[in-house]
Amino acid sequence: MKLTLEETAMLNGEFGPATQKAMRILASIGDIYGAERMAKVEHVHVASGTVISTGKGGAQFIEWMAENGGQAQCYATVNPSAIDTNHWKRLRIPQDYYDWQIRLNNAYEKMGIITAYSCTPYLVGNVPHFGELMCSAESSAIPMYNGYFGARTNRQGNPSSLSSALTGRVPVYGLLLDENRFGNIVIDVKVPCRSEHDWATLGYFIGKHAVSKIPVLLGVEEGVSLDNCKMMCAGMNSSGAVPHFHIVGITPEAPTLSAALGGKKPLEVHVYDSAAKREVERHLCNAAGEAIDMVVLGCPHVSVHQLQRIARLLEGRHVKEGVLMEVLASDAIKAVADRQGLTKIVEDAGALLLSRTCPTCYPLGECMAVSLGIRSMATDSSKMAHYAAADSGRMPVYYGTTEQVIDAAVSGVWAAGEE
Ligand code: F3S
Repeated sequence: MKLTLEETAMLNGEFGPATQKAMRILASIGDIYGAERMAKVEHVHVASGTVISTGKGGAQFIEWMAENGGQAQCYATVNPSAIDTNHWKRLRIPQDYYDWQIRLNNAYEKMGIITAYSCTPYLVGNVPHFGELMCSAESSAIPMYNGYFGARTNRQGNPSSLSSALTGRVPVYGLLLDENRFGNIVIDVKVPCRSEHDWATLGYFIGKHAVSKIPVLLGVEEGVSLDNCKMMCAGMNSSGAVPHFHIVGITPEAPTLSAALGGKKPLEVHVYDSAAKREVERHLCNAAGEAIDMVVLGCPHVSVHQLQRIARLLEGRHVKEGVLMEVLASDAIKAVADRQGLTKIVEDAGALLLSRTCPTCYPLGECMAVSLGIRSMATDSSKMAHYAAADSGRMPVYYGTTEQVIDAAVSGVWAAGEE
């Protein structure tokens, strides 16, 4: 790979040991994928905010980078952590996880990484422009950046995203190149998608069929919004590993079907109709007859707009005793919610408005299932439904609309929706 003089100096250690290691990682990745050069980046989202995913060894590596001069060179945010510092004891997070998480937090802060601890970095200012080369980890954020914003990122993990943050560089390959951004399968959407639940369900269907290909959505005429698309992207990357998407006539690289497909025929066409939708709902709603122990909203982390709706649905009601209800947000969104009285409404109803974390980022099985006796969950997120079942050894999960889930939190039982 051809490096500039400055990049060569980084590789030779002239910017310190952490920058040298970061550049070595990026150069190796670039060689593996046949990149010809590095590009400068202004926006990076780093993967591992939680010690659950870094492990102790990974946390020590990140500490080493911080102690050896690593400094963010661009607008760099980080994914959720294992703890909400206000509620970790209530959630029975073991002291050991807390201590390691604080060490990890300190390392990120020392490096000037913006400790947003959120999987929706685009809600806290990490917003690239159309066509901008960037680097993002977090499976739900990657297709948002590529498809919704029209920026360009590959699917990145922790060492690569941290290395990009510390060098301000990314190797140019894959989705950073024009020729790799076209769609190659078509999803023919025959059923109206209006609510967040509709989009979360559609996303799960897409991931199952696209796997890692790029879907082009046809027939979508309403309901496209940032909140709906983030629910779809989270679903797509639970059942699949979809890096990018197009919606014909709507997303920036898809003015027409032909443009989205690069003038080629699609490899496959999949019809998403009401039968396909019901099949996904049945698959994700695997519980029947169990009492509800836990309710989760805000996967991916909520926007203020979503939180306003949740607060309206909860106002004047109370979560049933024995049900743990979590609404997940970033610190930044929670700060606005605090000011607008939304946090008070949620908490007066007996729910927790958690910031910086989510149940897949803290040891769900260990803390919740064992210490708190959580045996079943209700959620409106296809991603959370998927991981709750998988992470906890097929926990019974109820999956439905936000309204259904809130009703379930209040009553403690699940009322099936209309077929
Ligand atoms: Fe975010 Fe956790 Fe869901 S990281 S996308 S809230 S599984």
